[in-house]
Amino acid sequence: MVLHRAAYGDGVAFEPPATTPMKHLAIRPIEAADTRWLRHVVLRPTQAPETLIYPGDDDSASGHYGAFDGEALVGIASVYPQPREGDDRPGQWRLRGMAVIDELRGSGIGERLLSATVDHARGGGGSLFWCTARTTASGFYVRHGMRIVGDEFELPRIGPHVLMEMPLS
Ligand SMILES: CC(C)(COP(=O)(O)OP(=O)(O)OC[C@H]1O[C@@H](n2cnc3c(N)ncnc32)[C@H](O)[C@@H]1OP(=O)(O)O)[C@@H](O)C(=O)NCCC(=O)NCCS
Repeated sequence: MVLHRAAYGDGVAFEPPATTPMKHLAIRPIEAADTRWLRHVVLRPTQAPETLIYPGDDDSASGHYGAFDGEALVGIASVYPQPREGDDRPGQWRLRGMAVIDELRGSGIGERLLSATVDHARGGGGSLFWCTARTTASGFYVRHGMRIVGDEFELPRIGPHVLMEMPLS
C-alpha cells in the first residue's frame, strides 16, 4: 500500500514503514514540499500544518535531502544558509528537520543524510555548521563531530534542546 500525501501537496509517496530490510538506499535532493509529511510524522505529529514550513524552505540556496528505500521516502534533512541570532560570523549553515522513520533507525540513514547536508553547506562556502538538537538526538550529532554549546533549553511542545555546532573545513 502506498499512501499519497493528499494534505501535503503533490510529490513523493509515503509508504508505511518497511517491515523487511531496506531494498536499496539512495540519498537524493528533494523539494521542500516533499519534507512536510515526514516532518509531521516524525518531528511534529501534534502541531499545526503551518509549523511544518520552515523559514527559508523555498530559498534556492537551501538544500533538502531525502533518503529513499526503493521509491519510499524514509528519511529527510534540510540545510539553510542562516546565521545564529546574535552571531554575525560568516558562512553559517543551519541543519533542520532531520528525521528517519522509526522502523529504520540505526541503519546508517541519518549518517548519510547528515553527510549530504554537510556537503551541501561546504559546497555553499560554509565554514560553520549548526543546529538546535533535541537532547535525545545530541549523541548522534556528537558522534559526527558536533559539540554542544551552552545550556539546555526548552522548545514549547517539542521538548529539551541544545545548541550544537562544528567547523567546516
Ligand atoms: C536522530 C536520527 C535522525 C538518527 O538517524 P539514524 O538513521 O537512526 O542514525 P544512524 O543509523 O545513521 O546512526 C549513526 C550512528 O549514530 C548513533 N546514533 C543514532 N541515534 C543516536 C542517538 N539518538 N544518540 C546517540 N547515538 C545515536 C548510531 O548508533 C550509529 O552509531 P554506530 O555507527 O556506532 O552504530 C533518528 O534517530 C531520528 O529520526 N530520530 C527522531 C527524530 C529526531 O530526534 N531528529 C533529530 C532532531 S534534532
